[in-house]
Amino acid sequence: MPSVFIKTYGCQMNERDSEAVAAQLIAKGYSLAQSEAAADVVLLNTCSVRDAAEQKAINKMKNVVGHARKDRPGQIVGFLGCMAQSHGQELIEKLPDVDLVLGTQKFHRVAEYLDELLAGKREKIVDTAAEAKSESAIREHLLNGSAKTSVSAFVSIMQGCNQHCTFCIVPSTRGEERSRTIPDIVAECRELVLRGVKEITLLGQIVTSFAKRDVPVKDGKTAFVQLLEAVHEIEGLERIRFTSPHPKGYGDDLVEAYARLPKLCESAHIPLQSGSDRLLKLMHRGYTREKFLGLIQKLRQAQPGIGLYTDIIVGFPGETEEDFAQTLSLCRAVGFDNAYIFKYSERRDTPAATMPDQVPQSLREERNHRLLELVNTIAARKYDAFIGRQVQILVEGPSKKNAARYTGRTRCNRIVLFDGSPRHQGQLMDVKIERTGSFTLYGDPAIVNL
Ligand code: 5AD
Repeated sequence: MPSVFIKTYGCQMNERDSEAVAAQLIAKGYSLAQSEAAADVVLLNTCSVRDAAEQKAINKMKNVVGHARKDRPGQIVGFLGCMAQSHGQELIEKLPDVDLVLGTQKFHRVAEYLDELLAGKREKIVDTAAEAKSESAIREHLLNGSAKTSVSAFVSIMQGCNQHCTFCIVPSTRGEERSRTIPDIVAECRELVLRGVKEITLLGQIVTSFAKRDVPVKDGKTAFVQLLEAVHEIEGLERIRFTSPHPKGYGDDLVEAYARLPKLCESAHIPLQSGSDRLLKLMHRGYTREKFLGLIQKLRQAQPGIGLYTDIIVGFPGETEEDFAQTLSLCRAVGFDNAYIFKYSERRDTPAATMPDQVPQSLREERNHRLLELVNTIAARKYDAFIGRQVQILVEGPSKKNAARYTGRTRCNRIVLFDGSPRHQGQLMDVKIERTGSFTLYGDPAIVNL
């Protein structure tokens, strides 16, 4: 049977989609190749959120087809996911060697299309059509033998986004919001737990909008909080996480869930985007800096040690030095544990792309650099505060860089490395933090786990 190499760009949703495609192909008898050079099929699962992400995948594909035509004439190559969705046929016009272009509602069809291409029944396939119920089409995505996924798994709860932030291409690449049902999600989580999973991350573009239109608020609890409660009931499941929420949907019911549901890890990735009210309005975000600060305060009241992470865009059209100063001051006020900073990138057919006063690239670079420096200084201070503390980690497996080291995560989502062995894998254990590295904590389990 053929072998396949899948490379993933972008967010956790993409990682989960790639896992699902891999699991689907393995079930059909495919094997996973270690490199693109050794594969019969190469699939790039793409990201469109910024131009840089698209260029990376295009350059990779150029490289792959350059070799494929020389060394492996029969190799099938394809683009999957967001960039495939937004560019469709154009990708084949640009790169005529590409055989397959499959959009975000078609991941469950990869095997059938590959069969046709490999059998020579069709020469090229482009499918970016919408497909009803595709959000529930793939359940099987646990890769046996993959250290991380056997302990910790992603579960997709919804697809799409209706927010229409003015900078963002996602509503057009992922479509309208469609949610799975609570019983369907819980059944998938149960199966995962039976197979040894201890930590589940619920995924969606805007999880706080989960089933908003399908499941009414009950006892003041939104559908998403009802889902958290239902997943929390699963025996054997130790930890629950989710990503990503919208600050606007982070109601008191969700804040209160942190204090009430012990399995819900005290960690939150809440995209801020900007600290300036003027820009938040232009971005169509639906909250103010005061509202955001108020949310942070409530979360810290519910869980003082909560790990707080965010996304910020610099150089959004019209961003002045004063707007940027507001972002810096908000970052100082919150003290994020870490922030992902993005230079604004014009996306096709988004309102911001044609707004006046586009910020010159050099200024985007400069602000990126200044914000990164501030965020890193604050983050380093937060890391240092862990030294000497005892924390619980869930051990995921050997570290990629050094197999003698094992890696785990704290409940607040920090990576901890320690001298471990296979018996530690999948264990919840306490370690004492001895020192810090760049975005890593180093722990000693011996002191607390005799
Ligand atoms: N330019 C730069 N960053 C963007 N993001 C989304 N769209 C853009 C864009 N056009 C960032 C946001 C989002 C993260 C996933 O990507 O910060 O939260």
